[in-house]
Amino acid sequence: MTYLIGVDIGTSATKAVLIDETGNIKAQASAGYPMYEPANGWAEQDPLDWKKAVLSAVKKIVEASKVNKEDVAGIGLTGQMHGLVMLDESCQPMGRSIIWCDQRSGRQAQKMKEMMSLEKWLDITSNPPLAGWTAAKIMWVRENRPEVYAKCKKILLPKDYIRYVLTGAFATDVSDATGMQLLDVKNRCWSDTVLELLNIPRELLGNVYESQEVTGTLLPEIAEELGLSENTVVVAGASDNAAAAIGTGVVREGQAFTTIGTSAVVYSHLDHYAAVPEGGLHLCCCAVPGCYHTMGGPQSAGLSLEWFKEKFCQDFILQALKEGRNIHEVINQMTKEIPIGSDKLIFLPFLLGERTPHMEPDYRGAFVGLSNIHSQGHLLRAIMEGVAYCLADCNNILKELGVSITDMRVCGGGSRSPVWQKILADLYRCDIHTMQQEEGPAYGAAILAGVGAGAFSDIPSACDRFIKEDKTIQWNETEAAKYRQYHQIYDRIYEHLKTDFSALAKT
Ligand code: XUL
Repeated sequence: MTYLIGVDIGTSATKAVLIDETGNIKAQASAGYPMYEPANGWAEQDPLDWKKAVLSAVKKIVEASKVNKEDVAGIGLTGQMHGLVMLDESCQPMGRSIIWCDQRSGRQAQKMKEMMSLEKWLDITSNPPLAGWTAAKIMWVRENRPEVYAKCKKILLPKDYIRYVLTGAFATDVSDATGMQLLDVKNRCWSDTVLELLNIPRELLGNVYESQEVTGTLLPEIAEELGLSENTVVVAGASDNAAAAIGTGVVREGQAFTTIGTSAVVYSHLDHYAAVPEGGLHLCCCAVPGCYHTMGGPQSAGLSLEWFKEKFCQDFILQALKEGRNIHEVINQMTKEIPIGSDKLIFLPFLLGERTPHMEPDYRGAFVGLSNIHSQGHLLRAIMEGVAYCLADCNNILKELGVSITDMRVCGGGSRSPVWQKILADLYRCDIHTMQQEEGPAYGAAILAGVGAGAFSDIPSACDRFIKEDKTIQWNETEAAKYRQYHQIYDRIYEHLKTDFSALAKT
């Protein structure tokens, strides 16, 4: 029997799964780490925390599954996109990584727009300059920490730093590389035009591969530490969203999924390159060779819920702990009892600015319509609805672009909530499907490893064999009509608060 490992370097934790060649999960483990927020709109993580978590989670699943090390054929890597990892001369991380949701580089993204026309940015990188994407972060470091930039010898994304730790190779894959804003997306290679324009030497970057391609094998000391063989290959892997697509079986046109983790994304698969005008949605290379995907959604989805829960719900968290109840079930129960529209309360989920459908690094969160009748349950439900309004706006752009979705799936921790699932179905006005495999990105990365190691012939046929639907959540016309009025108010509030958020950011 051949075994495969998928590793997802997420924002709250690293998750690792070990599957066999028939797609069964033999073992899984996770290890968490903190996110640092040293200023309003800043978000950082320590690459050494990721390293520790990956080594510990992989070691655990290898031990727990008791497999023969020679039978573990491959490892697939996935993880949070856009994060900037800079290595010095001795290949050590130069401090914390500025991660995907950090908004400090709004001015640099603006500058990039002035350096080249929007048309050209869209033509080459398929996306407008974005504060959250890696290129703007590199420029921020160069302007604000010139001594760090001067000593930087390699620039890597989070999962690609882990690849370096595991194999010693400097490499990335086309889906994650798209989110650096340095890639010629149509041609799936680094863009000389953009690198020259931004004055970023090509030698700082790793080589670009298709997701299923092999980028190296385990270093002897790492193989020993993990209990694996030096022959285990490490494939290029994919961004968390592109790997989640494989893990939910979204590999053909007409298929889409919504994931709610720390951020949330509505993702659709495209068999061919098709430009997205103006950048209301992101367009990226996907993990299936030659194919693309759109994605859009709020940066702070699960993050908003966690923020509120941790800061304002300690009382019922303690109560739930005492009673031995699962906190997510408690939240589900509380929010289920609140009517659609949260008794006239609307939440804007922009705690860390926004990227789609609006590019607004200076935007922040808001509850609008607060009244003394509102309880914790109302605010929690309003958060869920606000996240879903943003996702529905992105889904509507897809409809306007003529992308016809016939199969909408869900994955990610947040989307396990039945309340959130139903809100999404009614706002999208379509049925949605949950999947039997819940570890979307890590499972997808393990499939990619299987293709790279030769255990599976190609990605779509492996997905057809292994990925199975679980439940269908049906949308309902009456409930959808109720949501529509609140959704329209949400969209108007966004417009009304625009100048105030900019003024607030300048104080
Ligand atoms: C996508 C994005 C997030 C991260 C976080 O652009 O930034 O989905 O990948 O997981």
